[in-house]
Amino acid sequence: MDTGPHYEVRDKSLASQGKMNIEFAEQHMGALMTVKKRFEQEKPFTGVRIGMALHVTKETAVLVRTLRAGGAEVAITGCNPLSTQDDVSAALADEGVHVWAYKGETTEDYYRYLANVISFRPNITIDDGCDLVTEIHTKHSHLIPTIIAGCEETTTGIIRLKAMVKDHALKYPMIAVNDNKTKHLLDNYYGTGESTLDGIKRATNILFAGKHVVVVGYGSCGKGFSLRAKGQGSHVIVVEVDPFRALQAVYDGYQVMPMSEAAKLGDLFVTVTGNKHVIRTEHMKMMKDGAVLANSGHFDLEIDVKGLKQMASSSRRIRPFLDEYIVQGKKLFLCGEGRLVNLAAAEGHSSEVMATSFCGQALACEYVVKNKGRMPVSVIQLPEEIDDMISRMQLKALDIHIDQLTEEQKKYMSSWQEGT
Ligand SMILES: NC(=O)c1ccc[n+]([C@@H]2O[C@H](COP(=O)([O-])OP(=O)(O)OC[C@H]3O[C@@H](n4cnc5c(N)ncnc54)[C@H](O)[C@@H]3O)[C@@H](O)[C@H]2O)c1
Repeated sequence: MDTGPHYEVRDKSLASQGKMNIEFAEQHMGALMTVKKRFEQEKPFTGVRIGMALHVTKETAVLVRTLRAGGAEVAITGCNPLSTQDDVSAALADEGVHVWAYKGETTEDYYRYLANVISFRPNITIDDGCDLVTEIHTKHSHLIPTIIAGCEETTTGIIRLKAMVKDHALKYPMIAVNDNKTKHLLDNYYGTGESTLDGIKRATNILFAGKHVVVVGYGSCGKGFSLRAKGQGSHVIVVEVDPFRALQAVYDGYQVMPMSEAAKLGDLFVTVTGNKHVIRTEHMKMMKDGAVLANSGHFDLEIDVKGLKQMASSSRRIRPFLDEYIVQGKKLFLCGEGRLVNLAAAEGHSSEVMATSFCGQALACEYVVKNKGRMPVSVIQLPEEIDDMISRMQLKALDIHIDQLTEEQKKYMSSWQEGT
């Protein structure tokens, strides 16, 4: 490990590779680069400290550069022990960012690094999964008076924040960046769809065509992944608990059934529910010899990995990010230790997708600075104009033009008198 006064990273000599990767990401993150240019002029974050717990990827580094261009001081750590790109954390350290992150962190280091970000005394927190907010509220609540607000990146984090509101535990305003259209309808759908397939492919190199792929959870991520698996020629089976989502899956042309039935049919199982133990040992016992399991939900609880380890007669790592377990004489393969496979075994979402997600983060930070002291202590949605502006910026960056409503159409859409 390489350490310095403001960093702890795997190998600082990877910095030049990291910088090339970050520059490559910038090339594909047009909307965010537009925001960065404006921030360079306007400096909205002068005197503001931003503490982040996000996947430390090349795209996140572009967000860090954007916030620093706006005058912020930034401290960052990962939000998952397996998702850090070591060359990127080295590059950030080299650029003078406070960064503590390496791929394969121990649980102890994971929480020590969160504590480092907290001791940086951030005025704004950016979370992906709500661990930073939880640590601040449970162990460092004396810092809350100097925190303006926080921003949350993912569905699991929003679920936790809403539970905090219900328990009257939340003590500062939180922007639900995940709930921007330009986040959950693009990132969770197109991003998770494609990168989950990429992660499984890199971990296993199995053929998707002809396989029975069981997708557990038909929310934004599950819909995106099902679409991509179908596109590769897989037979998709959806497992759901929500009747409306189950019906959507039926009408999208997939088979829908309970896990107890799907367990016997699947060649590949992918969990994307944000829930706990959706694949349990009772299901694993029913699976075919050679079945592959992967999770792309935020935490490594969706597949009961602990139960699998206890039940297996033996296990071994057969290649990076793929473990073999022997269960009742059959082989089961687990990708990326049950952690989100797209970031553990691949590189997460493509830069184009993260351009809009991270515009949401950058503009949410600007919004909270402008509205300091005027936001309710709750989970807040960004105004729709900001969300629409993100789409416009990304369309412009892609050089795609769209129509405008005519004056006649505007009048028609806001009136009721005109009928047949
Ligand atoms: N891998 C990534 O890069 C990435 C990106 C975005 C979101 N996520 C994470 O993926 C997870 C899903 O996110 P989303 O936005 O699709 O959420 P969502 O709320 O839109 O969908 C989740 C779905 O899972 C279903 N579900 C819940 N419990 C279930 C159970 N026991 N069995 C079957 N279905 C069940 C729900 O009914 C819902 O339809 C979250 O943990 C989120 O944080 C991961």
